[in-house]
Amino acid sequence: MPKINIRPLLTSDLTAVKDIYNHYIKHTHINFETNPYSDDYMQEWFQQFDHSGRHHAYVAVQGEQILGFALSQKFRPKPAYSTSIEVTFYLTEAAAGKGLGKKLGHHLLNNLKEQDINRAYAAIALPNDASIGLHKSLGFEQAALLSEVGRKFDKFYDVAYLEYKFS
Ligand SMILES: CC(C)(COP(=O)(O)OP(=O)(O)OC[C@H]1O[C@@H](n2cnc3c(N)ncnc32)[C@H](O)[C@@H]1OP(=O)(O)O)[C@@H](O)C(=O)NCCC(=O)NCCS
Repeated sequence: MPKINIRPLLTSDLTAVKDIYNHYIKHTHINFETNPYSDDYMQEWFQQFDHSGRHHAYVAVQGEQILGFALSQKFRPKPAYSTSIEVTFYLTEAAAGKGLGKKLGHHLLNNLKEQDINRAYAAIALPNDASIGLHKSLGFEQAALLSEVGRKFDKFYDVAYLEYKFS
């Protein structure tokens, strides 16, 4: 088995990232998008990342295959929120449950610790035991529970906000 490497996301990875996202968008409540992402959308989406700043994107790669990704994105648009970020982790179903989420999580948080970031948030549509388990193992704690805040596939879902304190 080739070794798994974690490296910054490149434009050449966008189709694989789109496919991972779209699997969860089409088949699960985990992602609250209801329409799959397009190639054009992914090109625009890529522009938000800036590896010298607060918004990073990393992929886990084995040979030619993208197994998953980790992101830090803007939490909310108003400027006073800029010291907070939202983190996101997605793996292919085959890569999940083997410790890779935790490796990506440590990589992302380590690369962000020198930045001017005070809090990271994860918004987790419930149930999602793997995501709750991952974030708790990275040191996140639950900060809020929004009841029935989203509706997908004609069903309401709660969302837990988990918080990580950089300082
Ligand atoms: C969520 C996700 C990124 C987690 O990554 P992972 O590689 O599966 O998780 P890991 O194997 O690194 O496990 C991390 C921790 O979570 C726990 N965990 C993992 N899967 C679990 C599960 N199904 N139930 C309970 N705990 C679980 C592990 O035991 C581990 O805890 P520990 O460090 O205390 O031992 C991955 O499962 C995934 O991509 N799922 C689908 C997409 C998704 O839900 N993304 C998050 C959106 S909010």
